[in-house]
Amino acid sequence: MRVGVYPGTFDPITRGHTDIVARSLHLFDHLIVAVAPNPRKEPLLSMADRVELAKIATKEFSHVEVEAFDGLLVEYVRKRGAHAIIRGLRALSDFEHEFQMALLNRKIDAQLETVFLMPSEEYSYLTSSIVKELAMFGGPLEEFVIPEVAEKLRECYRRPQS
Ligand code: PNS
Repeated sequence: MRVGVYPGTFDPITRGHTDIVARSLHLFDHLIVAVAPNPRKEPLLSMADRVELAKIATKEFSHVEVEAFDGLLVEYVRKRGAHAIIRGLRALSDFEHEFQMALLNRKIDAQLETVFLMPSEEYSYLTSSIVKELAMFGGPLEEFVIPEVAEKLRECYRRPQS
């Protein structure tokens, strides 16, 4: 059984992420969506919310599980007995950082491959940061995220009434 790990901050999970999940399932029998704490990015949503929303966003797929992980990705992949890391690659701007991470991970574990998948063109510009900015200014969200994520973001940015 081929197992893939799709790691990320998922702050929040977008339709671009779920597009990658769907594509991964053409290549892997089982997919683990691994939600990382990522202190470098200071996520807006709590780990519990990010995991919960990722579970809801992927519930239509069989053979997908969502789990929080901490520590080194390479160790997590090993511990879960997975065969590859999956990352979405949207544009050239993603490449340098992804290239660094993939090579670093392979340096730590020479057997470990990273598989890059391109999302559908309609999501090629979509990032969690852009979605959060839209939410901050009251923009439309449903095209980019599931309703539960949209609601959570609106809740985060709702201003107290004065
Ligand atoms: O969605 P993101 O923020 O691009 O995901 C980045 C993530 C979580 C995949 C990356 O930060 C990561 O692998 N974190 C775990 C810690 C680790 O192993 N770091 C070394 C790899 S560069």
